[in-house]
Amino acid sequence: QLPIVLTGVSSGIGARTARILSARGVPLIGIDRNPPADFSGTFVQADLSSQAGIDAAAAAVSAAAPHGIAGLANIAGVPGTAPWRTVLSVNVFGVRGLVRALAPLLGEGTAVVNLASSVAVYWREVKAKCSTFALADDQAAALDSIADDQEVTAESYLFSKQCVRVLTEHLAAELLPRRIRVNSVSPGPVATPILEDFKKDHGRDKVEGAGALLGRFGDPDDIAPVIDFLLRPESGWVNGSDIRVDGGLGAYRGSGLT
Ligand code: NAI
Repeated sequence: QLPIVLTGVSSGIGARTARILSARGVPLIGIDRNPPADFSGTFVQADLSSQAGIDAAAAAVSAAAPHGIAGLANIAGVPGTAPWRTVLSVNVFGVRGLVRALAPLLGEGTAVVNLASSVAVYWREVKAKCSTFALADDQAAALDSIADDQEVTAESYLFSKQCVRVLTEHLAAELLPRRIRVNSVSPGPVATPILEDFKKDHGRDKVEGAGALLGRFGDPDDIAPVIDFLLRPESGWVNGSDIRVDGGLGAYRGSGLT
């Protein structure tokens, strides 16, 4: 059985997804900048914020999986409290870079899952801007080109996840001829270490208010089974899509009640 590659396995949603996949006997290759406390599989320590880190991770995966991989879940992500260049490098170019680097190892019938966010719901409004940025050949130049764009730098997390939606559609189209599916999952607020950073970035009241409205925050167990589903052949007709897993927050906010 070929392994599935997961990023962000050392915390939160990635760690829980690894446990679910392991429990159903899937061999795993996990990537994270921090070593995991508990992970069964091959662990690759790599920093996905630079092309060098992505290349090192891809080389380690190729060495560990010479016969190919059965899927890839890009779960690693950083909050908007990090410098905007880091946010965009990891959340956008980390995803794009790893998909492109590992695509040769993905065979027919395999799947890629990217972690977007429920905050990115209006991504189509910035599709052109995201396409120009996220699909640029020269990443350093792309980052420099938006350095003066306050809308992006002040809301780097939002922009990064909007770009993930654009990238997901783009990569789904790019990889369709090879029968490799690409989808995303958009969680609402989930109780993992990143949630404290969201409170600092988006405002404590806003995040706590969402939790109060929903009755609780999400748990990694709410998200990981959806990632698992999208990696399985049972979801074989789901392609270029996003599954929002937010307890109804988007439906409620979209209804104009707040
Ligand atoms: P987390 O903070 O618990 O885990 C993120 C993991 O990514 C950590 O293990 C971290 O070491 C790794 N990581 C960060 N930067 C990295 C880098 N440069 N190289 C390699 N690994 C790196 O966060 P959580 O909640 O598990 O988030 C997983 C994904 O879900 C992220 O993409 C996040 O943006 C997304 N998400 C989370 C939500 C939440 O409320 N928890 C809501 C919406 C989306």
